[in-house]
Amino acid sequence: MDDFTIPQNWAHYSAADHAVWKTLFERQTAMLPQLACREFVEGMHALPLNAETIPDFAALNDVLKPRTGWQVVAVPGLVPDEVFFEHLAHRRFPSGNFIRGADQLDYLQEPDVFHDVFGHVPMLMHPVMADFIQLYGEAGLRAQRIGKLTELARVYWYTVEFGLVKEQVQGASGAEEALRIYGAGIASSFTESGFAVQSPSPHRIGFDLERVMRTHYRIDDFQECYFVLDSLDCLLDLARIDFDPVYERLNSGPNYAPGDVLPGDKVFQRGDRAYVRAQVTASV
Ligand SMILES: [Fe+2]
Repeated sequence: MDDFTIPQNWAHYSAADHAVWKTLFERQTAMLPQLACREFVEGMHALPLNAETIPDFAALNDVLKPRTGWQVVAVPGLVPDEVFFEHLAHRRFPSGNFIRGADQLDYLQEPDVFHDVFGHVPMLMHPVMADFIQLYGEAGLRAQRIGKLTELARVYWYTVEFGLVKEQVQGASGAEEALRIYGAGIASSFTESGFAVQSPSPHRIGFDLERVMRTHYRIDDFQECYFVLDSLDCLLDLARIDFDPVYERLNSGPNYAPGDVLPGDKVFQRGDRAYVRAQVTASV
């Protein structure tokens, strides 16, 4: 099977490409220490990332591979699901080889090198996420064979891409609990980083596997709901689950809209949905 990998060919990036990286990098590195979880910020600082140039994957892998066994490989863009899962199952993270244009800083049609590297690789430095994504790749191959990919993909979406995690932080009056970003879709987005953590609009609800696997998600705008892990270690419990009985249960019962709040939810914040309502008003 073609694995879709290509040489990164670092020399092909133009000065304009590096300038886009710089803008994106400087915005996120200024903001994320206050909004992202400790593990993300540590990973970000431990990697050979800098504002001036798009990273060379070989240099990244020199640090990443000894740490967790992962490596970044270049691909031209989105790859077929099966190819994606095969890579993850073998601890290879496929990264888009291109970067968005300066006129599309906050808009992405498909993941580019900033999303894939800056958003994902800091968490791949963490052993729990490293194991979780590999096991997700294996689970994805199986889910695809048995027709359960839609349900499983929601787990990835609401964790690896758009997950929040509880963290103890030092507040004005001592230690307090805060919600922090670990999902790459948020961490690589200037506008969604603040929205996900600070806006009163979205719901923030405790992560529950079956609940998440029944919940649709937005691919075209900010999320209406973020699911919150008690700690990153919960990902390991999740990775060890036998999904077959869960898939069986999902064969019946409801699916939920992204903005639903259910009676059994552990609600950290019930969103006022002002953002969603404004979008609806603007489109009529
Ligand atoms: Fe991603």
